[in-house]
Amino acid sequence: LGFRHRFVPGVKGGPPVTLVLLHGTGGTEDDLISLGRELLPGAALLSPRGKVLENGMPRFFRRLAEGVFDQKDLALRTTELSRFVEAAKESYGLQDNTTIAVGYSNGANIAASVLLTVPGVFQGAVLLRAMVPFVPSAPPDLQGAAVLLAAGERDPIVETGNTDLLQSILDSAGAQVTLYRHPGGHELGHDDLLAARRWLAGWL
Ligand code: MLT
Repeated sequence: LGFRHRFVPGVKGGPPVTLVLLHGTGGTEDDLISLGRELLPGAALLSPRGKVLENGMPRFFRRLAEGVFDQKDLALRTTELSRFVEAAKESYGLQDNTTIAVGYSNGANIAASVLLTVPGVFQGAVLLRAMVPFVPSAPPDLQGAAVLLAAGERDPIVETGNTDLLQSILDSAGAQVTLYRHPGGHELGHDDLLAARRWLAGWL
């Protein structure tokens, strides 16, 4: 399918949902499997490994510096990942499932980029410590999509203003956006997991 990945089939009688798990810089396809299982027990899990290497660390797109993205590569990788998800839906028979991205850091940023570029690949997204991947020239149509933004109040990588901008971009595209403020930095806390579980349970 073009990406090294892990796939965990959904449990019979489980939620008709596929969680697409997208790791942070230096992660692998194994990183978020246990998070996925805890977020929505029984859901199908699809977890690709980012193909870009930065000093040996896998990522989903190139960056020029921390928080400064290679926009050309981002656009290319966004299309590539969207195609992988669509092909995997087909090949694993997931067409009837609701597809929800769960991304952390660099994985959240590519998930946001997919949302803003190819609406319809994901019906929803849990974006953990995401930042604005790019500012779209015209708002895409994200009516019906639901997004949880989990931002760190003292995140040294993602400033509050950046989270606000991402929220307003998604809002003006018609997505239903919920903001969760984690009282810490870029690392995830147990509270993020609980917030995401609550949000998923309320939405699905
Ligand atoms: C990124 O490059 O996507 C962001 O700086 C987050 C990170 O991976 O550290």
